[in-house]
Amino acid sequence: MRKKIVAGNWKMNKSMDEAMILASEVVHMVKDEVNADVQVIIAPPALYLTTLQKHTGPVSNMGIAAQNCSNKASGAYTGEISASMLKSIGVTHVIIGHSERRQYFNETNEELAEKVNIVLENGMTPIFCCGESLEQRQGEGFFAFVASQLTEGIFHLSAEDFGKVVIAYEPIWAIGTGLTASSAQAQEMHAYLRGHLASKYGQVVADETSILYGGSCNEKNAEEIFSQPDVDGGLIGGASLKSREFTNIAKSF
Ligand code: 13P
Repeated sequence: MRKKIVAGNWKMNKSMDEAMILASEVVHMVKDEVNADVQVIIAPPALYLTTLQKHTGPVSNMGIAAQNCSNKASGAYTGEISASMLKSIGVTHVIIGHSERRQYFNETNEELAEKVNIVLENGMTPIFCCGESLEQRQGEGFFAFVASQLTEGIFHLSAEDFGKVVIAYEPIWAIGTGLTASSAQAQEMHAYLRGHLASKYGQVVADETSILYGGSCNEKNAEEIFSQPDVDGGLIGGASLKSREFTNIAKSF
């Protein structure tokens, strides 16, 4: 059985005080209300990871993710944060290849493949993001485009390492726009991607891989989206900044 996962990507939001309040509210609500078989992950800004890990660490079905990491192991890379540093403070997951990083920081599939490797070498779970733009969605070939992001970013992995990766499909046109993919559109892409994984790693591995949906997911639409057979949870942006709404999403399976 593949894991059900709800991850909150806080992006570049919240002061330290606000982050502490949000994290502690989420931790309490998750402990009290969310089924133990749902893994709940928060991805705060890197600056707050050390502090917030102390809240999430003791909760067995919670994890804490960095939003990015360096593709280099260590050394003279001013401003960067390495995977081993993240590991050393108890980070469990790292979001890799979010469309905002691809778009604003020009991250290439080649660099992202290196980041996936270094995250795995350090015993953490990469949450590997993929998704097409609006122009691509309106044209042809967007299924093949999203598949190519997986091919170039993670298909170099052994089946064993691949089994440790979580995938997040986030259509760019649905991120922060209030325009959600319909549950049918999400299911269609997720099923297609699972088929693509099966073509490389076999059906058993593909069936064990969690594929999350992201893009204007909220407490109102989560249940329908998560009810789709190939949708295993969500990567939540705006709605993860409110503890009540985020927890409600985690309860939507
Ligand atoms: P929104 O939920 O705000 O659309 O953001 C989705 C996202 O980018 C999560 O990584």
